Amino acid sequence: SRKFFVGGNWKMNGTKSEIDGIVAFLKSGPLDTNVEVVVGVPSIYLTYVKGILPDNVSIAAQNTYKVAKGAFTGEISPAMLLDNGIPWVILGHSERRNVFGETDELVAEKVAHALEAGLKVIACIGEKLEEREAGNTEEVVFRQTKAIADKIKSWDNVVVAYEPVWAIGTGKTATPQQAQEVHEKLRDWFSKNINQTVAETVRIIYGGSVTAGNAKDLAKEKDIDGFLVGGASLKPDFVQIVNAKQ
Ligand code: 13P
Repeated sequence: SRKFFVGGNWKMNGTKSEIDGIVAFLKSGPLDTNVEVVVGVPSIYLTYVKGILPDNVSIAAQNTYKVAKGAFTGEISPAMLLDNGIPWVILGHSERRNVFGETDELVAEKVAHALEAGLKVIACIGEKLEEREAGNTEEVVFRQTKAIADKIKSWDNVVVAYEPVWAIGTGKTATPQQAQEVHEKLRDWFSKNINQTVAETVRIIYGGSVTAGNAKDLAKEKDIDGFLVGGASLKPDFVQIVNAKQ
């Protein structure tokens, strides 16, 4: 069965003193030991956070480039993360796609390179409001997933994060039914286009205005294997979200 997975995506937030506060509530928890917990940290704080995180919480970067090194000013590579003991990276977040113009192709190249280098990847997909309203949700998430599938050899070290763009930072959470519907269709896509084992084992987590208030109902849905949490991951509520699965 799939281990419940809760990621906290801090985005571009935090000072050392704020981070100390986050680490304090992660330490006091208590965090359900049946849940895999990962925090996504701004690159400049990765080593600082790694030095103070409790053992039951792992750590992710929020972006890496598609090659190991070279003349790419401003970028960091999977090799650099591994050199610093950072095992995870979040790739293809909608903010990377929509604010920084990352294409399906670039996201897929980054995912493939990160996996080949030895990182574990939280790969994000999700439709915009106008795409949902036009009835194109499936087409968009399948296209984003296929772009990645075409470039990677194994899904073993990938967690898929379904994050509808209209739900991110808006307070408009997808209903459990809306999220479940897409997760189920994605699992079906994996079964038809990859294989049954991947369909049954890959974790598909939901992101977009997850709170301590709505996490429990979302966690009841059979194809929702956890969450990627933005704003609420900066607050003690995050502990309740980690523990939402009954
Ligand atoms: P919010 O939880 O703030 O809506 O952000 C979701 C998200 O983008 C997580 O990656």
